[in-house]
Amino acid sequence: MDKSFPRSSEFKLTGFSSTSIHSGHVHDLNYAHQTPIYASSTYIYDTAEQGMRRFSGQEQGYIYSRWGNPTFTAAEEKIAALETFGLINEDGSPMKVKGILHASGMAAISTMFLSVLKAGDKILSHYSLYGGTEEITQNMFPDFGIERVIVDLRDLNKAEAAMKADPKIKLLYIETPANPTIQCVDIEELTILAKKYNLVVACDNTFATPYLQQPFRYGVDFVMHSTTKFLNGHGTAIGGILLGKDIDKMKSSVTKVHRLLGGNSNPFDAFLLIQGIKTLEIRMDRHCHNAMEVANYLETHDAVAKVNYTGLASHPDHYTAMKQMRHPGAMLSFELKKGLQGGIDFMNKLKMCVRTVSLGTVDTLLSHPASMTHYGVGKEERKKYGITDGLIRMNVGIENLQDIINDLEQALK
Ligand SMILES: Cc1ncc(COP(=O)(O)O)c(C=O)c1O
Repeated sequence: MDKSFPRSSEFKLTGFSSTSIHSGHVHDLNYAHQTPIYASSTYIYDTAEQGMRRFSGQEQGYIYSRWGNPTFTAAEEKIAALETFGLINEDGSPMKVKGILHASGMAAISTMFLSVLKAGDKILSHYSLYGGTEEITQNMFPDFGIERVIVDLRDLNKAEAAMKADPKIKLLYIETPANPTIQCVDIEELTILAKKYNLVVACDNTFATPYLQQPFRYGVDFVMHSTTKFLNGHGTAIGGILLGKDIDKMKSSVTKVHRLLGGNSNPFDAFLLIQGIKTLEIRMDRHCHNAMEVANYLETHDAVAKVNYTGLASHPDHYTAMKQMRHPGAMLSFELKKGLQGGIDFMNKLKMCVRTVSLGTVDTLLSHPASMTHYGVGKEERKKYGITDGLIRMNVGIENLQDIINDLEQALK
């Protein structure tokens, strides 16, 4: 029986959705149509000799679910196929990468950092990063002798000057679009520079997903996702993935760090992730269409001082976003003229859109950083990151556009 049954492995998938639906599925012994939830912590051997072969790596097979599990494998192979969809190597062969599923985006990011860096090394990054990545690199790593150099990576001259000046910089860390500012940096140009100075390049692709942006196209070494977001798509499970293009390294040193840190996924969350990924393309198309329309609507609204959406020509990173992304994404933010109280009043009036943090779900989510995520951060400190009193962050969902606009309209009154 063909391992990828019911699809024949000889059938070449040419579309993104077909790949997200069919790749990664392994024929199950019981002919299950969907990848089963393999809820087993350990795996048995026919004989002691088989156990020996498995442990020595002479024979492929599962040993212990912190190390690997068939439901994880299906998710890993699906995301790896999407991150390399349509990409080819210099010799014309199809590009392949290896993914390792993790308990969360932060677990995947941590495995990457600890696989690449040692005491004395430095990380080069943009100033706007997801809060958890910011904290681990800024507050925790210095205790272990690893420091972060912060540069506005939208300025390539500054980026190169930093790389040139400090040979301790070993890793270029990119997050684009970045959380929470939605700023974009140029993956291609930065990777060209980083390779000139022999840096490892890692890119957090959470906001874009492989449907909108494929960092491996530009030669990055690692791609990470919080799969909690658009890949899962429905807000049902926390998860993360680390993908790497050096497959031998992924199978050896990176796998070792992953197994020892113990940030493994779990079969139920992996199953939910697999189901979510199957509709990625149509979800993202609708997310992006709605986001563009909502941005246009907000831009002309009297109560709104400013709209930050990379799809708008007014956004300073519009060109970079359009260069490397299929569509500019589902995330935007806008500033209310009435400041802090205006933000609180607006949030309280919402009737369908959801008041919450996080992103990437089919429903529209809004948060008010000044009264929520960044409540404890001083006003001046917040301002440095563009988080003003009246700033609202929005994950534009896939509801019918008119309902999103109607809810915003009544809440903005
Ligand atoms: C860009 C980005 N990277 C990483 C993470 C961390 O992901 P998780 O919460 O799954 O650990 C987040 C979470 O919001 C994020 O927005």
